[in-house]
Amino acid sequence: MFEELRAIQRQFGYLPAEQLKALSSSSKTPLSQIHAVASFYPHFYLVPPPQVDVRVCADMSCHLRGADRLKLDLEAAFRGTDPQTVSIREVSCLGRCDHAPAVMMNDEIFADIDSRGTIAMAQTLLAGGSLPEPHARPERSPAACDPYNGLGGYQVVRRFVEKRDWQEIIATLKTSGLRGMGGAGFPTGMKWEIVRNAPGSTKYIVCNADESEPGTIKDRHIMENLPHLVLEGMIVAGLVTGSHKGILYIRHEYETSKDILQAELDRCYRNGVLGSHVMDSDLTFDLEIFVSPGGYICGEESALLEAIEGKRAEPRNKPPFPGTNGLWDQPTVINNVETFSLATVILARGLNWYKGQGKNGSTGMKFVGISGDVVRPGIFEVPMGTTYSELILEYAGGIPDGKQMLAYAPSGPSSGYLPASMANLPLDWNAVAAAGSMVGSGAIVVCGEDRCMLDMALNATRFYRNESCGKCVPCRIGSQKMVEMLKGWTEGRSSKDDLQTLDELSIAMRMASICGLGQVVPVPIASILKHFPEVVDDHLVRHSCPGGVCFSQPSGAQ
Ligand SMILES: Cc1cc2nc3c(=O)[nH]c(=O)nc-3n(C[C@H](O)[C@H](O)[C@H](O)COP(=O)(O)O)c2cc1C
Ligand code: SF4
Ligand code: FES
Repeated sequence: MFEELRAIQRQFGYLPAEQLKALSSSSKTPLSQIHAVASFYPHFYLVPPPQVDVRVCADMSCHLRGADRLKLDLEAAFRGTDPQTVSIREVSCLGRCDHAPAVMMNDEIFADIDSRGTIAMAQTLLAGGSLPEPHARPERSPAACDPYNGLGGYQVVRRFVEKRDWQEIIATLKTSGLRGMGGAGFPTGMKWEIVRNAPGSTKYIVCNADESEPGTIKDRHIMENLPHLVLEGMIVAGLVTGSHKGILYIRHEYETSKDILQAELDRCYRNGVLGSHVMDSDLTFDLEIFVSPGGYICGEESALLEAIEGKRAEPRNKPPFPGTNGLWDQPTVINNVETFSLATVILARGLNWYKGQGKNGSTGMKFVGISGDVVRPGIFEVPMGTTYSELILEYAGGIPDGKQMLAYAPSGPSSGYLPASMANLPLDWNAVAAAGSMVGSGAIVVCGEDRCMLDMALNATRFYRNESCGKCVPCRIGSQKMVEMLKGWTEGRSSKDDLQTLDELSIAMRMASICGLGQVVPVPIASILKHFPEVVDDHLVRHSCPGGVCFSQPSGAQ
């Protein structure tokens, strides 16, 4: 259905009601079902969009890099203009956290942008002009882990075709300790084994390239620089588990990544690595790219499967899990972009090489994104076991203007914040978990000394509130309630029962939310109450903000 909806939107600029009715009768799908889907995804417009539609990313990394100021300047520049002519709104993370702040204007993304440049582009559009060309595609940058130095060798596929060594592949992945890099860290070898052992001949391989959590940018880097490793991981997973079909699900804002992957996919078909005779064998594996209709919740694995099935991306109740009941209710491997790529690296280079990559007693390597208050935001390929202090101060160049670090989030809003005094922690699953946080997807967001950590907790909670799919009450109502409470705190207002209410709300959300989104909403504020309790007291008791953030500037965010 998405393709039909996209075609209508391309033709009319939005989805006119009469076109949806026509689609309903031609496809024999109830209109209510079409409307339920079209109204769910942010990518579809049910009314004509404004002439100039500016959306400012308001999430963690952009918030730290001046997004509030940018939005206020835009609002001032176009005050009094009809909202149907110029609309200025917030949007969730655009996946350009290393080039914050980022804005989307009439569906084009611009990063590393300031107020003057954004206002000028909006004025150009108003005057009938067009937007500048997006930035030129960067040269591919090599990765030290790449066994093929840039171009796909597909040696692991070849070895499988010759040896059919599925037991050895699963055993190697298990021994390597490779974990899911999408956030939850589930052991990859075990996941592939579950699907291999699941009965039935229809199975699927799905790559999760939805990457929408603030600070998470490493998958974009991997897809643009190492597309052959992603695809080879998916093909090998397919051959090992007995699946014949793979789908790479990518967020629609990653157009460059999609084009690069598509070119590599076409190359695989031309060279016989994909198709009905993989490398001239009797094995079949087909692969296609599915462009997401949008929304952070689509990254939750069961919501993503619902989206592929053409429904609203609402998470399923679990169990059953995708390993046995995934896409179209069939056994499905769903892994993150980096997980598939590292599986290829491990299988091509061998266990000893992979184990030798870690340091300080940890195993392997990882891609991390570092953004926020750092001199050189970016994506880095690093040994596991490297300390966060090394990552932030050495790889990312430290805090700008010679300032000190106040805090960092090891993995975006879902990891909560840790104080700078805990930056000597190693990038290690167990060590970070023992410290009450998580390695997650490696989305390191850094806060300099003049930030307000209560404001940062509010920002993270607001992200979850905005992205809640609304399917279950604890998350839909609870996230709104928590935003209202924290907003009150940043303004020095609280009721004496707030802490108890927050506690009860957090327990209810953790226990009763259907998916991980609702379960992690309480994490950012819990981390502030644990590590920065004096900041909350400053606001509520002394009516002052140590960072000078909360009482002086209106953020404009609701
Ligand atoms: C709200 C939410 C959003 C998520 N977004 C992503 C995402 O963008 N990319 C991703 O790989 N995993 C994401 N995950 C985790 C997936 O549900 C799933 O655990 C992951 O794709 C499994 O792959 P892995 O084992 O390789 O990590 C998200 C989870 C939740 C709860
Ligand atoms: S927890 Fe939130 S995002 Fe997840 S299903 Fe419930 S409402 Fe949707
Ligand atoms: S692009 Fe703004 S936080 Fe990611």
